Amino acid sequence: MSQKDIEMELKELRDKLNRWSNEYYVLDTPSVEDSVYDKHYQRLLELEQANPDLVTADSPSQRVGGKVLSGFTKVNHDIPMLSLGDVFSKEELIEFLERLENSVEQKLDYSCELKIDGLAISLTYENGKFIKGSTRGNGVIGEDITENLKTIKAIPMELNEPVSIEVRGECYMPKKSFVELNTKREAEGQAVFANPRNAAAGSLRQLDTKITASRNLSTFIYYLMEPEKLGIKTQTEALNKLESWGFKVNNESKQVKTKEEIFAYIDEATDQRANLPYDIDGIVLKVESFAVQSQVGNTVKVPRWAIAYKFPPDEQETKVLDIEWTVGRTGVVTPTAVMEPVTLAGTTVARASLHNPDYLREKDIRIGDTVKLHKAGDIIPEISEVVLAKRTEDSVEYQIPTECPECGANLVHLDDEVALRCINPQCPALVKESLTHFASRNAMDIRGLGPRIIEQLYNREMIKDVAGIYSLTFEQLITLDKFKEKSANNLLTAINNSRNNSIERLIFGLGIRHVGAKVARILAENYKSMDNLAKAKSDEISTIDSLGKIIGDSVEMYFADEHVMELLDELRQAGVNLEFLGKTREEQLESSTDSSFNGLRVVLTGTLDTLKRSEAKSWLEAHGAKVTGSVSKKTDLLIAGHDAGSKLTKAQELNVRVMNEAEFIQQMEEES
Ligand code: IVH
Repeated sequence: MSQKDIEMELKELRDKLNRWSNEYYVLDTPSVEDSVYDKHYQRLLELEQANPDLVTADSPSQRVGGKVLSGFTKVNHDIPMLSLGDVFSKEELIEFLERLENSVEQKLDYSCELKIDGLAISLTYENGKFIKGSTRGNGVIGEDITENLKTIKAIPMELNEPVSIEVRGECYMPKKSFVELNTKREAEGQAVFANPRNAAAGSLRQLDTKITASRNLSTFIYYLMEPEKLGIKTQTEALNKLESWGFKVNNESKQVKTKEEIFAYIDEATDQRANLPYDIDGIVLKVESFAVQSQVGNTVKVPRWAIAYKFPPDEQETKVLDIEWTVGRTGVVTPTAVMEPVTLAGTTVARASLHNPDYLREKDIRIGDTVKLHKAGDIIPEISEVVLAKRTEDSVEYQIPTECPECGANLVHLDDEVALRCINPQCPALVKESLTHFASRNAMDIRGLGPRIIEQLYNREMIKDVAGIYSLTFEQLITLDKFKEKSANNLLTAINNSRNNSIERLIFGLGIRHVGAKVARILAENYKSMDNLAKAKSDEISTIDSLGKIIGDSVEMYFADEHVMELLDELRQAGVNLEFLGKTREEQLESSTDSSFNGLRVVLTGTLDTLKRSEAKSWLEAHGAKVTGSVSKKTDLLIAGHDAGSKLTKAQELNVRVMNEAEFIQQMEEES
């Protein structure tokens, strides 16, 4: 390939990827599958790695972070980043508007916008290229966070026109990402963020920009500086222009002329608040005309042409009845406040996580206290504060437990963790949680083996570890509460099927610290077998793209334990597959149309309700399977309708994977 060809291909790839990314992150209208994006992105990386001098600033590869900063330099805001004046009722809002309209002696049009609860950022573009981004700071001096902002996919690196502009907007974390991040942090023993705004702020000010990149932040841009220079006359016009340049602009804004329209907007926003994927704390009203905005001007801190109407806090008082401590899969012991039930944002709430002992101590929550309860990010019940005036005189400070509530072992703080942990590997809570995790959907996917069944199996000493799952018998299962012949057989089939899983499920299912489903997949692809992985050293694991030293150390330490090696042997003897069976991601991408039935020897048995036997057979053959009449050691899969009889028994004896008709149809649909 000539240099020219490479340059051309790179440009084409960048343009395509940036367009798809813009459709996905800015416009919310993805036009291609993730796999298509990934395939092109891999090609871009390949070409860039071979030609590092051809990497441009607008390449999507520059969004992954990786720069470790030594600090944030200060930035002067030539035009200060103002804050907004607040009102808390419709009456106060009317007063503000009347005063404003009197001062200019005319009726005004307004732009109604949602007040996004994030943090203000400023972005500078020169000739359409992103060159600098900063925080608001104190309004006059902020911090340079350019490298962090480059990782946010909603921020365009190059605009659709070569304009030189400065824009301002809000950086926020979507509610869903906030919940996921906190759940992960809590399980890992780290402090949680109080709300999406704090999470966004914490994520933006990271010296390691890879962390910012991993946090799924987004932005809404709502302010164009010096619009008159570009001949733009109103806020609505500015928002449209911002959108056409490629910024993500909130599309709930509305141009209004009357008070009734403003009130209707407030009511609608109040109603819809809980359904929005991001947090808002009010609405913002701005004078439409920039000429009028300049005419009325600003006070030192806030503009006279805009106002924020803040929602009243949705808070309820209730009483703390108890503080419960539960032991999670990773041994983290978490306190939960149990309260008198109250209704909050439409749901009844009686429990709120207190996250960790530091949090509990800081808030000084005691049993019997009256507390104020709200929903963080509109979703997670959280105690805002104790109503001290209502505390009784005999109230005593809550004592943090020193022993595990389940097994009595001493609780510890690992490293610098805020969490308390039980590190007794035999702790029943830990064992039961790890069994539940092992059987869960993204791990070994043993349907029907949920927490309640595990509780019974464990309490009746039928299993003590994950290997024990594979020696459960029909006779044992049938003795469980509500178990009949059918449920016992279904569970045995599910257990049997899990023997044939590829190892990424097992690696994830073992619950190794810092190894989630995605990391498990990467490890499986790289090491191909449990035996290889068990021998891998941290240094080597750390060099794998997107893994690091923390994961490397954790995996090495996990397999250094002789009990783990014994467990692997038991799993091997139980017939559990210990090899990687899947395709690598590249192979998958290359043959994404290949069927998962390709090359399998399949037997059909029993009565099928929906499909004709002949239809199923020809579909399988068309997708590369060989359909045979009898079950043998060579059979890869049995598709069993009801009344399956002896072929099913034989398949179970031979550890052959079994699928029922519904599962088969689902798979057919996925592949068609
Ligand atoms: S306009 C000069 N519009 O609210 C006026 N601000 O409490 C600049 N905010 O500092 C702000 N959504 O961080 C504006 N649609 C919106 C907003 C918004 C959220 C934030 C912004 C501001 C703060 C004031």
